[in-house]
Amino acid sequence: MKKQKRKSYTKQQKNVRPMPSVKETQLSMFGTQEFPSAEEIVEAYSKEFARYITPVGKNVFGFWMQTLADLELLNLEFTGLAKHYSINSIERTAAFTGDIDAIRLRIAHLEKVEGKPTLYTALVDKFGDTNAYAFHNLYPYKGKFYPRVVRTLINAFGLEESALILDPFNGSGTTTHEASLMGIKSIGVDITPMGTMLAELKNDLLFINESILNFSISNLRDIADSIENKKWKHHNPFIYKLMLIIYFDTVDAFARTSRYNRKGKTGLFIEKFNYIRDCHKKIMEIKKQFNLSFQKAQIIQGDVLHLEEKDWKEKFDTVITSPPYYFSIDYVGKDQIAYEYLGVEMKEIESKYLGMKEIRQSIRGTTNLPPKVLMYYEDLKKSVDIIFWVLKRSGSCAIIVGDSTVGGYKIPTTMMTKKFCEEAGFKFKKLIFNPLLGARNRAIRGESIIICEKE
Ligand SMILES: C[S@@+](CC[C@H](N)C(=O)[O-])C[C@H]1O[C@@H](n2cnc3c(N)ncnc32)[C@H](O)[C@@H]1O
Repeated sequence: MKKQKRKSYTKQQKNVRPMPSVKETQLSMFGTQEFPSAEEIVEAYSKEFARYITPVGKNVFGFWMQTLADLELLNLEFTGLAKHYSINSIERTAAFTGDIDAIRLRIAHLEKVEGKPTLYTALVDKFGDTNAYAFHNLYPYKGKFYPRVVRTLINAFGLEESALILDPFNGSGTTTHEASLMGIKSIGVDITPMGTMLAELKNDLLFINESILNFSISNLRDIADSIENKKWKHHNPFIYKLMLIIYFDTVDAFARTSRYNRKGKTGLFIEKFNYIRDCHKKIMEIKKQFNLSFQKAQIIQGDVLHLEEKDWKEKFDTVITSPPYYFSIDYVGKDQIAYEYLGVEMKEIESKYLGMKEIRQSIRGTTNLPPKVLMYYEDLKKSVDIIFWVLKRSGSCAIIVGDSTVGGYKIPTTMMTKKFCEEAGFKFKKLIFNPLLGARNRAIRGESIIICEKE
């Protein structure tokens, strides 16, 4: 290798101030002139790292706060919960004034409030997961919300127990379940029988007596067999549906992987039932520990585009919802096993499903957009108009949407939704982009929370 000429280097550097002599002024990270050993560096960093993992203070971040979006969500919930607040993102702590006990029960991003664990921390610790607490994990419904985001929005909008929330695309009922856990009334509407059934079950599971879940292993074996042979009956509709859902989940898990082969289908069915029973025990313990009162939601199977037929004008304080993303997920096909079993005509559901409807001939050639996308946007716009119509004056709405790429064609649903909100009469307040870090579906990289107000 040719030696670099010293002359040209000094020429390049001629306008730069000469570096001070190392010996004279440069101090190590410990404030001495001695260079630390590797062990000392590792020790110093590990102390710093430990402080990051376990922040020190009375009001500290939960370990689940990982992204900038999480920081924004904490900020957002403080706006509805606290009088004054400040967030120290380096120390991972916060300071605030307000009703400390209420904040401890509500807040979704802090591990401790005034030195005591929050309700959210208790949920995360008890269930060993930041999202799969209570019955949120009843079934792997595609396109489910993160419960923490729902809780954050309920806090941000400052909703009291007397408030009424609507989710017109309620799916498996994350909004209604989280509202129930927080003691707030809600109504959830969804077009699919599967979503409706799941939301109803989550609803009922919070109010049943534990004894109703007493089934022996041999009972459960017989139940799995009778479902398999399409002979399953039960006098209690709740138990009838719960067992079916557990069975559908079992069959679906079997179809996806060979991991459970050794356990066998019946073994997995029993395991899943025991998981639900365990969740019931845990959530009832938390309820007692924090003296919570749950609120039952109302679950309706229906079409968002027909809500005007209901007497719902200016009925709701808040709408928290997420419409289907254009074509990124085959929401209906995913539950084919269940629909075949229940004898539900999938085509019938698809004919009302946003983004899945048959192309209307009259729509062809009206714009440059593919007709199917155009129809999706037409329905989305109408849904936003209806959301505006059901909201009270000064009511808030949060719509969670994602852009997708289908066949190389970008579907800009986020900006279209924001536009539809403004056209409906909403005042746009905020947009938070939440990256989906572990997303396996390459068509979706994240989702946006669009927050609006009806003035
Ligand atoms: C993104 S998912 C919502 C998931 C939900 N947030 C959850 O946590 O389970 C969109 C939902 O919109 C529903 N949907 C599609 N078309 C509809 C319509 N016309 N009326 C009501 N719901 C509809 C779908 O069944 C699906 O459950």
